[in-house]
Amino acid sequence: MSSDDALKRIKNKPLPRHIAVIMDGNGRWAKKRGLPRLFGHRAGTQSVREAVKVCGELGIEVLTLYAFSTENWVRPKTEVNALMGLLSKMLSSEISELDKNNVRLMTVGRTHELPPKVQDDLRKGIEKLKHNTGLTLNLALNYGGRQEIVDAIKKIQKLGIKNIDEKNFSDYLYTAGLPDPDLMIRTSGEMRLSNFLLYQLAYAELYVTETLWPDFRREHLYKAVEEYQKRERRFGGT
Ligand code: IPE
Ligand code: IPE
Ligand code: MG
Repeated sequence: MSSDDALKRIKNKPLPRHIAVIMDGNGRWAKKRGLPRLFGHRAGTQSVREAVKVCGELGIEVLTLYAFSTENWVRPKTEVNALMGLLSKMLSSEISELDKNNVRLMTVGRTHELPPKVQDDLRKGIEKLKHNTGLTLNLALNYGGRQEIVDAIKKIQKLGIKNIDEKNFSDYLYTAGLPDPDLMIRTSGEMRLSNFLLYQLAYAELYVTETLWPDFRREHLYKAVEEYQKRERRFGGT
């Protein structure tokens, strides 16, 4: 069965508007090869490129990628620095390609706590791509779901807003204005959320694959979307 067949089938059925991905398994990918963890992160950047490209082609509205969690700071300093360096490098090398593909960029998370260089690269990237109308690439950086909910409550308190309900609460989350994810993919087999989009994933379809993030390619994404299209979404109904 070729990738093209899968694509034809996918295009004939309703697509998720928003796909969220926990890109996991970089370390294990490197370990399997007897390489330092950084090599796994580096290899994972190719999977990012491909996921963005394929989502753009499919006409997905939003792709959220969990790139760094609020808990990831506990990793060795060398690894954290390497991840921040990779992010900066990607932001400078990929922006023109993203622009060509009509991709818009945004972030969720406490980005003001990231290294100033990364913040600067993010600002530049977001500015350069802000007029694009295709895929919204949403990077979750220094992101934590609980922190996001706490930040939302602080915002609401500060503004003195009294009439909060489930609908307008979303307006105070980092993801304000975005549809909730329809499909959440986690690579490398772990069956947990790891503090990712706790509020927004309430009714997302979950898809966990054993494939490690650096091995995740077009065909794996197609498979995840096909699996999503087979699910029956009930939202509490019958
Ligand atoms: C995901 O891969 C990348 C980040 C969390 C930044 P990991 O680095 O968590 O890889 P494993 O889970 O150790 O294999
Ligand atoms: C989740 O992966 C965070 C990112 C992918 C950025 P982790 O590897 O940090 O999660 P745990 O430690 O397995 O829960
Ligand atoms: Mg991990």
